[in-house]
Amino acid sequence: MNGLKIVGLGHFVPENVYTNDEISKNIETDDEWIRTRTGIEERRFVGNDETNYSLAVKAADMAIKNAGVSKDDISYIITCTFSADFPVPSIACMVQSELEIGDSCTCFDINAACSGFLYGLHTVRGLLLQEKDKNKYGLVIGSEVISRHLDMNDRETCILFGDGAGAAVVKLEENYLYEFTSGSKGNYEVLHVGALNEDKQYVGMKGKDVFKFAVTTIPKCINNVLNESNLSIDDIDYVVCHQANKRIIEAVMTKYKQPAEKFPMNIMKYGNTSAASIPIMLSEMNEKGMFKKGQKVILVGFGAGLTWAANLIEI
Ligand code: COA
Repeated sequence: MNGLKIVGLGHFVPENVYTNDEISKNIETDDEWIRTRTGIEERRFVGNDETNYSLAVKAADMAIKNAGVSKDDISYIITCTFSADFPVPSIACMVQSELEIGDSCTCFDINAACSGFLYGLHTVRGLLLQEKDKNKYGLVIGSEVISRHLDMNDRETCILFGDGAGAAVVKLEENYLYEFTSGSKGNYEVLHVGALNEDKQYVGMKGKDVFKFAVTTIPKCINNVLNESNLSIDDIDYVVCHQANKRIIEAVMTKYKQPAEKFPMNIMKYGNTSAASIPIMLSEMNEKGMFKKGQKVILVGFGAGLTWAANLIEI
C-alpha cells in the first residue's frame, strides 16, 4: 500500500505564557481545579504582533528544514484551522508567500476543528496519489489562534485553550502501512465558535457532552484502524491523541490497559490548541528522538462538528 511517510516536523508556540493563576485573576476558578479537571498548567497566547499565519509560517519553516527537502518539490500546502486571521487568502497561501514557495504549489485551508490535521493528512495523501510524479511532497499545517475566540469571563471555556502551530512534510511511500477512519455528526449545539447575529465569535461548549463524546469516540476510531490493519493495540508504538483533556486521554489509556509512555501528552504546557495539538506533539516527540523507523503510530482526534478521525501511519 502507498502509505504516508512523515519526512519533517516543526512547531511554534507564542512566547507569552499564561499560568492558571493568571487566568484565575478575572474569574472564579483556581489552579487546583484546572489541573485536576483538565491537566492543564499553562497555555500560550499570541502577542499583538503575532497572527495565525505568522505561527503557521514558523512551524512550516521548521518542518521544511527538518525534512531537508527543496521547496520546489512541495506540491501542496494544506492548513487546518478554524481561527484564520481573515477569510481569504487562505493561511496556506500566506505560508506560500512568506516562505517563497513557487506557484506550481496548490494551497488551501480546511476546517474540521480539532480533527483538522488528521483530515489534512488524509486529503494530501489522496492528492499525492493522483500525481504522476510520486516524489512530490505535501506540507500539512495545523495552526490556531484560539485566544481571539475566548470569552475570558467564561470559566468553563477560557481555561481550556491555547494558541500554537505544528507542521509536517509528508510524501507517499510504497509498502507502508496506512489506515484512516473518520466521520461527523452534523452537530452545532455541543461545541461551536460563534453564533448567528453575534459580533463576538466565542467558543460555546457543553463540556460534559464533549467529554462523553470523546471517551466513546476515540476508542471507536482506534478499533477501526486496528481492525482494518489486522493489528492489536500491543503492536502500536504510540497513540498520539488530540490534547483536549488529560482525563480523556487517561480514560482511553486505562480502557486499553496500556502504559502512559504510549500516550504522550503536552496538554500541561499548551492547553488545547485544536488542529495544532497533534502536529505540535509529533514535532516535540521528534525533537526528543522518540521515533525510530518501522514504528507504528495512531493519530486520533475529535472536535466541533462533531468530527472525528484516526490515521494509522508508519514511521
Ligand atoms: N473553575 C471552577 N469551577 C468550574 C469551572 C472552573 N474553571 N468550570 C466549571 N466549573 C464548575 C461548574 O460550574 C460546576 O459547578 P456546579 O456543580 O455548581 O454546577 C462544577 O464546576 C462541575 O462542572 P462540570 O461541568 O461537571 O465539570 P467537569 O468535571 O465536567 O469538567 C470540563 C469540565 C470542561 C473540564 C470537562 O467537562 C471537559 O474537559 N470536557 C471536554 C471539553 C473539551 O475537550 N472541549 C474541546 C474539545 S475539542
